[in-house]
Amino acid sequence: MLFKKQSKLDMENIPEHIAIIMDGNGRWAKKRGLSRSMGHREGSRTLKKIVEACYDLGVKYLTVYAFSTENWSRPKEEVDELMKLLYEYLQNAERELKGKNVRIIVIGDRKKLPDNIVSEINRVEEKTSHNHGLNFIIALNYGGRQEIVDAVNAIAEDIRYGRITEINEELISQRLYTRGIPDPDLLIRTSGELRLSNFLIWQSSYSELFFSDVLWPDFTPKHLEEAILSYQGRQRRFGGVK
Ligand code: FPP
Repeated sequence: MLFKKQSKLDMENIPEHIAIIMDGNGRWAKKRGLSRSMGHREGSRTLKKIVEACYDLGVKYLTVYAFSTENWSRPKEEVDELMKLLYEYLQNAERELKGKNVRIIVIGDRKKLPDNIVSEINRVEEKTSHNHGLNFIIALNYGGRQEIVDAVNAIAEDIRYGRITEINEELISQRLYTRGIPDPDLLIRTSGELRLSNFLIWQSSYSELFFSDVLWPDFTPKHLEEAILSYQGRQRRFGGVK
């Protein structure tokens, strides 16, 4: 248990879905004279602690931005290292999760991913498909605009074959990679950058945003607690009045 009894958190108001843009691995490494890949490796360790913290808090959905459709433009060495880390994570997922009731789901376009990663994704998704404690969603080769383009194409196909007659928000949500997953309540970005960078752009319309100056490898369950406390102090109006 990573959270102590004296925590100020209201356990009745824990966000159901937390989304995280894990930013700052490169800067963390540079500050220490290390390679960017070492920063990602440390970031992967941080992620394991944050998954555990979310599980302990009773968060139902955690979505993390692990690799964007734009990240392919990084140096090959860095892309290879990120793919290696993802592969290792998936391969060791059951051991890492220590028998916890965690379901792993991967969202994004799998067509461009290496075969070994795709088969690990399929294996882990299948193996954890009956778990219902925490849904841990990894966005991999994910781009919010591409996701919307894919949804629009699927809808166009349905219209062509007469399967639907009306397009509404609910239908679009159901054609996104995140179908069946509630929208994030709280979206956190680390490292002081103040933008969404194509992450869950449809789904985060009413998410509470929390920006932390802490670089991702330095982000701890305590920082997560701060973000949740900030969320708990806000009044969500969803465009109405209260
Ligand atoms: C952004 O930092 C981070 C990424 C592009 C990769 C995130 C990946 C991990 C935390 C590890 C692997 C994930 C899993 C699921 C095992 P940056 O490189 O843009 O940092 P910078 O802005 O300081 O350069």
